[in-house]
Amino acid sequence: MQDSKVQMTLEQRDNEAILEIVRSLSTRYGSAENPDFLARATVHAHELPLSVRQALNEFRLYEPQASICRIAGYTIDDREIGPTPTHWKERQRHCPPIKEEMLLVLLGSLLGDVIAWSTQQDGAVVHDIAPIKSHEREQLGSGSAEELTWHTEDAFHPSRGDYLGMMCMRNPDRVPTTFAAVDVSALDQRTLRLLFEPHYTIRPDESHLRKNRVDPIAGKLLEIAHSQIEMMNEKPEKISVLFGSPEAPYCRLDPYFMDPPENPEARDALECLVRLIESQLEEIVLEPGELCFIDNFKAVHGRRPFKARFNGTDRWLKRVNILRDLRGSRPFRSAPESRLVL
Ligand SMILES: [Fe+2]
Repeated sequence: MQDSKVQMTLEQRDNEAILEIVRSLSTRYGSAENPDFLARATVHAHELPLSVRQALNEFRLYEPQASICRIAGYTIDDREIGPTPTHWKERQRHCPPIKEEMLLVLLGSLLGDVIAWSTQQDGAVVHDIAPIKSHEREQLGSGSAEELTWHTEDAFHPSRGDYLGMMCMRNPDRVPTTFAAVDVSALDQRTLRLLFEPHYTIRPDESHLRKNRVDPIAGKLLEIAHSQIEMMNEKPEKISVLFGSPEAPYCRLDPYFMDPPENPEARDALECLVRLIESQLEEIVLEPGELCFIDNFKAVHGRRPFKARFNGTDRWLKRVNILRDLRGSRPFRSAPESRLVL
């Protein structure tokens, strides 16, 4: 796949075909969280226009160095989607934009299987990313006034997504998402060798912690999940930050939640990689209706700080996490078809 193909704009007829599909599915299933919809999402995704199916298939198969696939041209009705939620828990009371959520799930299903975290946003598959007033200065997607430092999504977890999918509902202040397709070709062999060795630890990010749970009456399974996360926080496993092919390594890192390794050479190697990624960081401004899929094994992302309005007109993204294959996460899920990772 040529890198030029990782950015596409839907043709008018494809946009219309997509609108027809998501309208019909929203009437049939009523919610993107409906287990019947999720069970059949992969099959319904076969009905999408050939151009998007081909683009995402090539993105998955060829793993282009760009490590992001942007799809523009979907028409979003700013009034129909309603105001930007002031907290993700609002989806329990208000009807979320079903068509857009379903489209994100369908496109994600061309890359693999969408998953939900029991410890994030009350186990929803589709997340709301919008500023929350009490999180203004937190390292969270719902923060605003502070830079959300770049990271691999859910880097601490062995079942983190292979891909992160985001759809922009609105972005009136053109707040940039930060992004870097990690390219380690400038590193020397000794540094690379150290980064391939298990010297490093990554603690869970704030979004998974018990303090960010909304429902105080949690089930037994959620209690177990939080205990596991607390264990990962107290005794993080030692891992390598690079893995896979030595020629084109995958990476896993979240410097904000990483302690300096004991080994000074490993510490220098990590600092070297962090500096390199910082030099590769670019800004992406997502437009309303635009979708992007980030290869979470090959790229990092974050968000620039911004002044939130908290009046229903703030930047608002929808997010899904996607595993190429659900099977690898089976120890963390209660049934083969369950998408909920504990
Ligand atoms: Fe993230």
